[in-house]
Amino acid sequence: MNIQLRYYSGAGNTEVLSSEIEGEFTRRGYSVCFERITKQSNAQPPTGFDLLGVGFPVYHFRPPRLVVELLNSLDGGGRSIFFFLTKGMASGDSLRQVMTLAKERGFRTVAAAEFYYPGTDALLLFCKKGSTLEHLLKSVHSRKLQRQVNRLVEQAIHGAVISPPAQKYYHPLVAPFNDNPYQYLVEEFTVLRDRCIKCGLCVKGCPRDNIRWSSGEIAIGLECDLCLRCLHHCPTEAIQLGERTLNTVRYKPV
Ligand SMILES: Cc1cc2nc3c(=O)[nH]c(=O)nc-3n(C[C@H](O)[C@H](O)[C@H](O)COP(=O)(O)O)c2cc1C
Ligand code: SF4
Ligand code: SF4
Repeated sequence: MNIQLRYYSGAGNTEVLSSEIEGEFTRRGYSVCFERITKQSNAQPPTGFDLLGVGFPVYHFRPPRLVVELLNSLDGGGRSIFFFLTKGMASGDSLRQVMTLAKERGFRTVAAAEFYYPGTDALLLFCKKGSTLEHLLKSVHSRKLQRQVNRLVEQAIHGAVISPPAQKYYHPLVAPFNDNPYQYLVEEFTVLRDRCIKCGLCVKGCPRDNIRWSSGEIAIGLECDLCLRCLHHCPTEAIQLGERTLNTVRYKPV
């Protein structure tokens, strides 16, 4: 069976989970082709697979744009797909949305699961370093994670079609967040020149190709998904959102 796995990840939670899932397939004797979802990788959608796994974090109760764009570019042709998502608190109708879209694209969804991980938005935007809130948020993890991963992989291999979950009861409450509530932050990106060591990690890591070199300096554009990878991973905290993130938590699970 040709198994491919594509995952979107900002700070790295979904990346870590994807490795766990890939590891479980490998333990069962399957090899998996494994790639991060970015603007560049979406230009070469997966081909030749029998089973496709798609992983993503929930951003404002929805899947990230690049995940939706990837699904929209694929023709399922009756093949199997499974989903896994990571969330800090509440996923809204994210799973329902991707499973419905997958069906429209001709896929059979055979497994889906949600996993709790620390909220990368709350850590960066609301947590001072060393605070109790930092400690609390970093302790958020799915209990029985390994059992959940085993079950997901088992179901994915077994291949029976599952139905999308019902609409969440709180859907009317989160519907107003259909527009990204963090969108205003895109204009607040700042690069502190005296802190930047020009390592280029932010340029390489941005899923949107939104960070570039410009006359030897880092320049951040407005095509941002607010995945927060550049802020969490910059080794010197040179990337900031104005002054609001000067003493807040940076988080890197990998
Ligand atoms: C911009 C943004 C919006 C988020 N919105 C939600 C949300 O609506 N619900 C939720 O449970 N978690 C939310 N989170 C938390 C992430 O889903 C969670 O931390 C996830 O594990 C991040 O995965 P990643 O590190 O692979 O990007 C949000 C995080 C970010 C950066
Ligand atoms: S990751 Fe940080 S230090 Fe490295 S080039 Fe980007 S802004 Fe500069
Ligand atoms: S600029 Fe930063 S936050 Fe925006 S998409 Fe790129 S890495 Fe993510």
